[in-house]
Amino acid sequence: MNNLFSMKDLSTEEILEILHTAESFAKGENWAPAKQTFAVNLFFEPSTRTKTSFEMAERKLGIEVIPFETGTSSILKGETLEDTLKTLESIGVDLAVIRHEQDAFYESLAGRVQMKIVNGGDGCGQHPTQSLLDLLTIKQDFGKFEDLKVTIVGDLSHSRVARSNTEALTALGAEVFYSGPPEWFEGDAENAQNYVDIDEAIRFSDVIMLLRIQHERHDSMMDLTAEQYHERYGLTQERDERMKPGSIIMHPGPVNRGVEIADSLVESRKSRIFRQMENGVYARMAVIKHILDK
Ligand code: NCD
Repeated sequence: MNNLFSMKDLSTEEILEILHTAESFAKGENWAPAKQTFAVNLFFEPSTRTKTSFEMAERKLGIEVIPFETGTSSILKGETLEDTLKTLESIGVDLAVIRHEQDAFYESLAGRVQMKIVNGGDGCGQHPTQSLLDLLTIKQDFGKFEDLKVTIVGDLSHSRVARSNTEALTALGAEVFYSGPPEWFEGDAENAQNYVDIDEAIRFSDVIMLLRIQHERHDSMMDLTAEQYHERYGLTQERDERMKPGSIIMHPGPVNRGVEIADSLVESRKSRIFRQMENGVYARMAVIKHILDK
């Protein structure tokens, strides 16, 4: 594996191998690249968890992190992403993690740059390391993926998290359902088939994966207020009490408390939200190891 752009790049065996490596990092195993390695994290969209956890993963592996702020770089002077990467490559950077607002930004880079690239989220496209950390979290709880029922609730059409997870979970044998405002599923015949109402979803799902409403990607705002969304489509305290025994709550963050999830449930017994963040470091360490170790 040279780069990681999309979950589609990974075979089921490779996904399981990366999860295995991530588990060994979670247990405290160490690994460092054979030679001095430099990484840069280029984030063109806001990020708290993903950027920090990539940097933590890099540092834990002994990789030197070169600071790079997209807001003060020559990108503002009109330099293209490709030229920026070629520049960093010439200076000696080995690995770039990139988050970019353009869907599939990586396609135009294929074969143009030699450095290794990890996609930290592209527009409404893919977010492969989020998917891997989600899979790791599910595996820790259930020990398997076969026959698990996972319902992704919310802004599916704009979510790279939903897209990456649907492909991976399905390949691993889980069944994926969707819930949220039905108009977000219109024209999406494939996903509309597995649409369920939230009150039904909570009864049979092993995993309820909530998503933030991506206001920044909506052309028009929803007609619903935050309270109305919560009552109609959110995980309320009352719905939590009716969830399937043994089921868990996930959310990639950032969380809008009281909208997609009741405030009191974020730190509840069933919530794996902070575990997901912890696992993000191990999953990213594993991805970097697989890329550098090849
Ligand atoms: C998500 C993202 O940026 O794709 N967050 C994350 O990386 N943990 C989801 C979101 O922004 O809602």
